[in-house]
Amino acid sequence: SSETKVQLVNKLIRAFPDFPKKGILFRDICPLLKDPAALTAVTDLFEEHVRNNYKRVDLIVGLDARGFLFGPLLAQRLGVGFVPIRKTGKLPGVTSSVAYDLEYGKAEAEVQVDAVAPGQKVLLIDDLLATGGTMYAAIQLMRKQEAEIVGCMVVIELKELNGIDKLKPHSVFSVVQY
Ligand code: PRP
Ligand code: ADE
Repeated sequence: SSETKVQLVNKLIRAFPDFPKKGILFRDICPLLKDPAALTAVTDLFEEHVRNNYKRVDLIVGLDARGFLFGPLLAQRLGVGFVPIRKTGKLPGVTSSVAYDLEYGKAEAEVQVDAVAPGQKVLLIDDLLATGGTMYAAIQLMRKQEAEIVGCMVVIELKELNGIDKLKPHSVFSVVQY
């Protein structure tokens, strides 16, 4: 069942206090990645959410770097393509970029302008939603591309940081919440 799958995922996420900075409780997904049954379970949960909530998805757009671990797995399940949003300076060709703040620093995100066509229905995916700064940057990039954002998906939502408020009116699906 879904509940069993969520439990399997939940028990393989570790918390490390004061990483990468004092005061941050870092949620580590490495044990989840290492466990084939749990990685299948998290992909199942994403796939079920998409099939139950969205009529059509054209592309899965994943966020650098940990969104790359889950996005292609889901894209394969849905039979659609995967597009990476990268930290700046990594993508060749013509790119569009946006600056943003995150829980423990600043960064800039970029997408290839020919990767997403106007009107394409995109689903954004990452491992974790903290302040929402990264996901908001991705939304801005997709807006510039004139894509239609169908929703956002993460494995982990850190509720006390209220990231989902920043992303309204877009919906955010999360597998586990802390
Ligand atoms: C982490 C995480 C999310 C983001 C969430 O990535 O994987 O992408 O922070 O934080 P926010 O909601 O406050 O923006 P990070 O930038 O540390 O990079 P990494 O994926 O390359 O480790
Ligand atoms: N990215 C932003 N905040 C994080 C946290 N607390 N744990 C893991 N990744 C993060």
